[in-house]
Amino acid sequence: MPFKIIRDDITRIRCDAIVNAANESLLGGGGVDGAIHRAAGPKLLEECRKLGGCETGKVKVTGGYRMQCRYIIHTPGPIWRGGNYNEADLLYSCYKESLLAAKERECESIAFPLISSGIYGYPKDQALKIAVTAIKDFLENNDMDVTIVVFDRESFVLSHDIDNRVRQFINDNYVSEAIKYDSNIRSKSALFSLTRKRSEKSEGINKSVSYCADHTLKEFKVLDESFSQALLRIIDEKNLSDVQVYKKANIDRRLFSKIRSDKDYHPKKQTVLAFALALELSLEETGDLLSKAGFTLSDSLLFDVIIRHYIETKNYDIYEINEVLFKYDQTLIGA
Ligand code: AR6
Repeated sequence: MPFKIIRDDITRIRCDAIVNAANESLLGGGGVDGAIHRAAGPKLLEECRKLGGCETGKVKVTGGYRMQCRYIIHTPGPIWRGGNYNEADLLYSCYKESLLAAKERECESIAFPLISSGIYGYPKDQALKIAVTAIKDFLENNDMDVTIVVFDRESFVLSHDIDNRVRQFINDNYVSEAIKYDSNIRSKSALFSLTRKRSEKSEGINKSVSYCADHTLKEFKVLDESFSQALLRIIDEKNLSDVQVYKKANIDRRLFSKIRSDKDYHPKKQTVLAFALALELSLEETGDLLSKAGFTLSDSLLFDVIIRHYIETKNYDIYEINEVLFKYDQTLIGA
C-alpha cells in the first residue's frame, strides 16, 4: 500500500529511509531524535557533527548505522509560535524535501514520525493534516511506500471537523453487537438494512435469471463477471487510466497488475472498497462490486459504517478515510 499510518516506534521500522524530527544543530536531542540516535549508535552523531547543522524545513541525509534503514533523513521542523510565522509552509517543506531526498537516492520506502507535533508544540491535528497533504501531493506523481508512524494514541488527533462529522454518523448508524443482540430478541427488525437490501436484490436477480425474463444478453454477462472483469469494465466505462485508478485507490502498482492479469483474482474486502472509492461508485454500485468478491456492507461493522458515510457524502478522499479508519483502529483502505 503506497500510503499508510501505523502505530509503532519508528526505530523498529524496516525501510529504505527513516525521517528524524531533528533540531537545527543536528546534534541529537529528546523525543524521536533521541530515540533514533540511541538506536543508530554513536557513529550517527559522528557523521552529524560534520554536517554543519540544517535549516528548518530543509534536510540532511546520513547513513542508517544500526537502524534497519539505508538512510536517516534529518529535518528540523518549525517550532509552533501561534501559526503566523510560516510554520505551515516550513512543515510542508520538511515532508516534501524528505520525500525528494529519498527519491534522489532511489528509496522505495520511507517512514515519518509526526514532525513538530511533540516538543516543538505544533497542534497535532494540523501537523497531521500537513503531513498527509504533503505525502498525497508527492504520491500523485511518484511511486513510493510512505508510512506515518504514530508513537502513541495521544499523538494522533483528527481535525475537529472530520472527527465531529464522522462521530455523529457512527452514533446514528452503527449497530453494535449489544444492540443487535437485544433487538434480535425483541423483533427481527431491520438491523442489517444494507446487507438485507443487498441479499434481497440478489434473490431478485436469481429469480429473474431463472425465469429468463427481461434480461438482455449484456446483463447476463455482467452477472457472470468476476471481480476483476467487473473492475476493468468499470474503469473502461469511466474512461479512466489504470494509473489514475490504482493511485487514487492507494493500491500498489504490483497488486493492480496481479488483478489485471488474473480474472479469478480473489481480493480482500478493503481492496474492493479501495477501488469502489477510487471509481466514485454509489452505494448500490459498491454493493454490486463487493458481491462479485463475495462481500457485503453491514451496519454492524464499524469499518463498513465509516465507508458508508464517505460514499453517501460523496467524499472519496482515501487519505482522509484512512485517517479516520486509523483513529477507530480499523484496517486501512488499500491494505
Ligand atoms: N517513534 C515514533 N514517533 C515518536 C517516537 C518514536 N520512537 N518518539 C516520539 N515520537 P518530537 P518535534 C513522536 O518531540 O516536536 C527533539 O529534542 C512524538 O509522539 O520527537 O519535532 C529534537 O532534537 C511526536 O508525535 O519532535 C528537537 O529539539 C512526534 O514523534 C525537538 O525534539 C514528534 O515529537 C523536535 O521536536
